[in-house]
Amino acid sequence: MSDLPISPAQTASDDGHLAVRMCGIDFKNPIIPASGAFGFGREYESLYPLSRLGGISVKGMTLHKRDGNPMPRVAETPAGMLNSVGLQNPGVDYFIEHELPNLLTKDTVIIANCAGSTVEDCTEMAKKLNRTGVHMIELNISCPNVKAGGLAFGVDCQSAATVTHAVKNAAPDKPVMVKLSPNVTDITAIAKAVEAAGADAVSLINTLLGMRIDLASRRPILKQNVGGLSGPAVFPVAVRMVWQVANAVSIPVMGMGGVSTWKDAAEMMLAGATCVQVGAALFQNPLAPIEIIDGLRQYVEESGISSISDLIGGVQPW
Ligand SMILES: Cc1cc2nc3c(=O)[nH]c(=O)nc-3n(C[C@H](O)[C@H](O)[C@H](O)COP(=O)(O)O)c2cc1C
Repeated sequence: MSDLPISPAQTASDDGHLAVRMCGIDFKNPIIPASGAFGFGREYESLYPLSRLGGISVKGMTLHKRDGNPMPRVAETPAGMLNSVGLQNPGVDYFIEHELPNLLTKDTVIIANCAGSTVEDCTEMAKKLNRTGVHMIELNISCPNVKAGGLAFGVDCQSAATVTHAVKNAAPDKPVMVKLSPNVTDITAIAKAVEAAGADAVSLINTLLGMRIDLASRRPILKQNVGGLSGPAVFPVAVRMVWQVANAVSIPVMGMGGVSTWKDAAEMMLAGATCVQVGAALFQNPLAPIEIIDGLRQYVEESGISSISDLIGGVQPW
């Protein structure tokens, strides 16, 4: 695990037994809204203080503004959803100038999620982010919805290593967490490749490629034909992959995929996750992260364990 210095903004505070440490950063609790499900936090500010969150992974950014894919780009599925939003975002410069200053006042860890279709785009973004107060960079090499989403990097060990190495060099002052795709044969091979290339952590899983077809029109429901599946339907796949990756690498793992209750979050931590991101659940229940934090706090108090970090990797396989 890398041991980068902690900035003053990153102090563990009121949650006490819920505090976890990852890449030299103290998170007051392990629960973080996932990229793409929380925007830049503005829509949620009126619902609860963002300082209650362990951190925020902001909407995935690209070097230049993107309008995203044509609609329809969201479809319901049993126990989940498909999306092909396609990284709609205002671009990294807009984020740094207009969104980051507000986020940095929120007393929570800010994770800058970014993606690019070329190594040069990714390094350019990393250089810009390295000069800001973001606490961590989450390099998305796994967006299935656009070429710019980096999936081409995420499905090949050599490309994944090349882009990781370049971004780490361009942002030497920030922990770099690489976000992995589940749309591969062996996710542990990609995880090991990015670890060897200098990644400080990995996060997983991004969405699983899926498709729905409208019976009457015989058209795919999504204008892009296919999209990424997330929500409770993917939870067991995510737990399995977090467990496999946590056992394959020695850098920390941030887990996500279908988490909607505190029990899901605890299970993800037992599988090996140090922190847990919550995505699709937010669309059904904007309070989900807060309810999960409260549930974990009650669990820790009632079960008598001294710290939530006791759960990390605690599964006892048969
Ligand atoms: C509408 C939507 C937009 C997303 N946008 C991004 C994104 O910009 N960057 C990224 O790394 N992941 C993005 N994701 C993936 C989520 O961060 C998460 O990895 C995935 O949805 C699995 O978690 P969940 O089942 O809790 O949603 C998006 C997911 C959804 C549903």
